[in-house]
Amino acid sequence: MVKNVLVTGGAGYIGSHTCLALIHCGYNPIIVDNFSNSYRSVIDQLSMATFPSRPVTTYEADVRDQSSMEHILRVVNPIAVIHLAGLKAVGESVKSPLTYYEANVGGAVSVLQAMQNVGVTNKFVFSSTATVYGDVDVDFLEEDLPLSHANPYAHTKIIIEDMLRYHVRANPSWDCAILRYFNPIGAHPSGMIADQPLGTPMNLMPLIVQAAKGERELTIFGDDYPTPDGTCIRDYIHVCDLAAGHVAAVEHLLTKGSITCNLGTGTGYSVKQVIQAFETRTGVKVPHKIGDRRPGDVARLVANPKRANYKLNWYAQLSMLDMCLDAWNARSL
Ligand code: UD1
Repeated sequence: MVKNVLVTGGAGYIGSHTCLALIHCGYNPIIVDNFSNSYRSVIDQLSMATFPSRPVTTYEADVRDQSSMEHILRVVNPIAVIHLAGLKAVGESVKSPLTYYEANVGGAVSVLQAMQNVGVTNKFVFSSTATVYGDVDVDFLEEDLPLSHANPYAHTKIIIEDMLRYHVRANPSWDCAILRYFNPIGAHPSGMIADQPLGTPMNLMPLIVQAAKGERELTIFGDDYPTPDGTCIRDYIHVCDLAAGHVAAVEHLLTKGSITCNLGTGTGYSVKQVIQAFETRTGVKVPHKIGDRRPGDVARLVANPKRANYKLNWYAQLSMLDMCLDAWNARSL
């Protein structure tokens, strides 16, 4: 039996890697994407990255278009929906809050409403973020900590998480997996898909790759944080490990039920340590300088991943050196 899984935002960085992981595990991903922050060519790259090469069915649609979503759900008849479509730039959310509430909260409401109206599946995986923990002074973040937000982006994720908890309470036959991502970097080892945002990247690893290619100098945002080398510490996770976490979440929904969990490695790296690992693994220098702090950055965000380890039987497997090499190998995309 073909096990279709609908992946909204499936042409994006995490979406494309999640589609590959689904294929690898015997599922048939179907993409819904409006290509507002991804290239249409990703769909071809994705089929080339599969072995044997195969097309991935794709619908160009906006998740806020509820009637299109209902139509797609009826045709596809998925066993689960992985909802990744949304906006993710903190700075942009501060400048244009309404755009963020409309896209993220509006998008999630539309997909859930469409699922409920059509009634084909009530299994929903949601991409949340470690940013929902706010600026909390603990070494390892656990899922039961109180949530807080310092910007509209984080607030949209908290609103959606709360909405899902209320929705499951009101509709006990529904199951939702809330996945709090730490910092996905790297790329599929084929080098066929990678983090390819439209326009100038804002996240660290794509900027390191550009600096290593000689296209820019990297600015380290502050070296006066209360960390051993003064630069911020994050829990970087290989995007393929993160993608595998989505498959594990789908399987948990199908067999056991709802879950909220961190997807991280439990190990922190500072910005300087990431640069050093990149230079060691690739042999290529990363020109960089120290600049001012970036507003909104917190000193340390590292997961306690034990819940995902035990309940999803999922473990991050790939190292920082793997992340650096795979990001570099995909540099020509
Ligand atoms: C950011 C978002 C987060 C979002 C995630 C994925 C913020 C505050 N957080 O996480 O909500 O879920 O991206 O999109 O925007 N850095 C530099 N120089 C650079 C770029 C980054 O030093 O040019 C540093 C940052 O200060 C940070 C680290 O690298 O310490 C990682 O930055 P980034 O990749 O942007 O991720 P986050 O800020 O952790």
